[in-house]
Amino acid sequence: MIPFTAPDWIPTIDPGMRILVTGASGGLGRALVDMLLQGPDCRIGAHGASKRHPSNDPRMVHLNKAFSSAHDCVALVHEFVTEAGGIDALVVLSGGIHFSGHWKDMPDTDWARDIDVNLNQPFFLARAAMQHMQDNKRGGRILLTGTESAIHGGSAMSFPYAIAKRGTECMVEGLAREGAPAGVLVNGLRFGYIDSGFHGRWHDKTDADMKARAEMVPLKRPGHVDEAAALMTFLLSGWAQFITGQMIPLTGGDWL
Ligand SMILES: NC(=O)c1ccc[n+]([C@@H]2O[C@H](COP(=O)([O-])OP(=O)(O)OC[C@H]3O[C@@H](n4cnc5c(N)ncnc54)[C@H](OP(=O)(O)O)[C@@H]3O)[C@@H](O)[C@H]2O)c1
Repeated sequence: MIPFTAPDWIPTIDPGMRILVTGASGGLGRALVDMLLQGPDCRIGAHGASKRHPSNDPRMVHLNKAFSSAHDCVALVHEFVTEAGGIDALVVLSGGIHFSGHWKDMPDTDWARDIDVNLNQPFFLARAAMQHMQDNKRGGRILLTGTESAIHGGSAMSFPYAIAKRGTECMVEGLAREGAPAGVLVNGLRFGYIDSGFHGRWHDKTDADMKARAEMVPLKRPGHVDEAAALMTFLLSGWAQFITGQMIPLTGGDWL
């Protein structure tokens, strides 16, 4: 296994961008915000549900809300637009898995919560952000989150999560078609196993479990959060103006 070593450069966004990141308190969200803060001047809406992104950088707008309705999502986008004077990009990294057993035993409330946070809320967030971007006539970027397992039927232990993420792939294509005339580009990340803390948090996985999971990846390691942050930053950058409606895998060859 060849370990990840960070290059001595990072992709950067255009100066002045106003970017709302939901799930900025999570492993991937923290890494993305930290990378954006190394770049040019910008406003970053750092959203968390129960936690806060640790930075006190003056470019940050801290937003806290555990989503439980479409209204919460719309209100969050409006709050950021009011604070930042507009929105140029939305990155949806909020997500989770509420039930770790087999779907045969899953209470219907947990099914609904997983579909809510991983499918319904991303839609309500993206719809509200796209409306602002279309009205502004400056274009925009929307990044949503999928998972590689979802294109292989998911797993019995995270079935609604995978179904929601597969639905997100459809959403990316439909929203991209809708946004294209106004220059609103919509793409998704199809992550494999990234070492973000997600699996320990939602699935109670141990270090030994994670080592065994890494062994299943052809490159024999998890993805590093900074590799994910660099890909997302590139998709927000001026070099990604001809990419829309795509799910970009970051998997180390998982499922080959
Ligand atoms: N890591 C991976 O291997 C992997 C693979 C495939 C896909 N993904 C996806 O990538 C995204 C980011 O994952 P991550 O690894 O950074 O996970 P994470 O560390 O668990 O972060 C999850 C984020 O979602 C927020 N969140 C959870 N429930 C919420 C709710 N009801 N309302 C609002 N926010 C809520 C959390 O807020 P608080 O922390 O403030 O509670 C946190 O910021 C997720 O959508 C995940 O499904 C990850």
